[in-house]
Amino acid sequence: MSRHAKLAAFGGSPAVSPRARDLPWPVIEDADRAAVLAVLDGDHLVSNADGPTRVSELEERWAAFCGTSHCVATSNGTTALTTALHALGVGAGDEVIVPALSFIATGLAPLHQSAIPVFADIDPVTMNIDPRSAADLITERTAAIIPVHLHGHPADMDAVDALAARHGLAVIEDAAQAHGATWRGKPVGSLGDAAAFSLQATKNLPTCGEGGLLTTATAAVAERATLARQFGEEMTAGRSRDYISHILGWNHKMNPVQAAFALSQLDRFADYEAARQRNVPPFLSRIAGLPGITVPTVQPGCTHTWHILRFRFDPEAAGLTGVTPAGFRRAVHRLLRAEGVPVSRYQVMPLPEQKVFTDRAGDSHGHPWARSAPPPRAPHPVATAVVDDSLTLQRRHLHPDAGDALEQYADGFEKVWDQLPTVRSMARALT
Ligand SMILES: Cc1ncc(COP(=O)(O)O)c(C=O)c1O
Repeated sequence: MSRHAKLAAFGGSPAVSPRARDLPWPVIEDADRAAVLAVLDGDHLVSNADGPTRVSELEERWAAFCGTSHCVATSNGTTALTTALHALGVGAGDEVIVPALSFIATGLAPLHQSAIPVFADIDPVTMNIDPRSAADLITERTAAIIPVHLHGHPADMDAVDALAARHGLAVIEDAAQAHGATWRGKPVGSLGDAAAFSLQATKNLPTCGEGGLLTTATAAVAERATLARQFGEEMTAGRSRDYISHILGWNHKMNPVQAAFALSQLDRFADYEAARQRNVPPFLSRIAGLPGITVPTVQPGCTHTWHILRFRFDPEAAGLTGVTPAGFRRAVHRLLRAEGVPVSRYQVMPLPEQKVFTDRAGDSHGHPWARSAPPPRAPHPVATAVVDDSLTLQRRHLHPDAGDALEQYADGFEKVWDQLPTVRSMARALT
């Protein structure tokens, strides 16, 4: 495409075709439809039935995929997190350290268990929890830490596990965005005491709606999680349901329709993952050559599953004077969207600034905040900077045929970067 072409925001032709702008995800094929219909025509519409179901099949395959011994399927990633906290004995009065940048569920899950979330800052490169910031937040009430493998890159599990071992903390990986990522050759989902995956339809391994998977190497944790997800009832093979609740339980079950769809997607997961590893890095290399953009990178010994691609913008490095990082981000957001590059924000504030946490929202009596000592606080300048100065690409690039679309997105970036004086004037106005 011709460089120095008129920007689409000012009447030029967009760099990206409508098809490339709207690549679908998930990819739904006849095999997925057949898998769902087979459940509708079978005898297991719920997973509380005795004997194997598509849910128990998914559990077995996912535990093996993660190189661990147990998997407990749940209704979504949030209930996988809360069930893991419960199964590991985290409850009222406990503090749980979570990163200041994540999806809201990471901070809400401790509250759902009457525990208190405590927010650590993040690392500026991986955007995952900063273990030094987490260490500053340890008190005698700290019971657990939730490292999030944000956007598909594993958190620093050596440092997290070492911190947890020093202070006797449970480690729950939030792997909602990181199916198939590895840390020093080991799959996420096998790196802590338990892990929670989301299968929500936009994830790298999707269901046709909502779903979650909890993994653990510990039989007792899996047993408690299994009891908790179904009203505290014990389901014994060969014995009919007795409706007796042995512990406090919820109804957090996955249904076989969702499991069947996820199993069908799992059959193609390795191919899709290989396609992402082919498509994304060349695109990132092209963008990385532009001044003032930092692209996601992979730490040595890790696999990044590229669930979300986050770009940081630095006006100084782009030679733009009188422009703030947020002004630069706002200007390129407008200009890139006009070109058809589907960039968007992912999280508009650090988690601790969400109203539910600043208001200390709880039940009608203010529980659990009202009955707990004030939790420690850490500054989170890195999370604030990242939210301010970055944009993301989500979903479209997950499609196995996204290579051509990503080329067009790179064209769009280059076209905008060819006209930095225009970007500067716009960014100054938006600073
Ligand atoms: C990091 C993270 N944790 C937890 C969740 C919650 O998963 P779900 O939406 O399946 O409840 C998500 C979902 O987007 C997530 O991205």
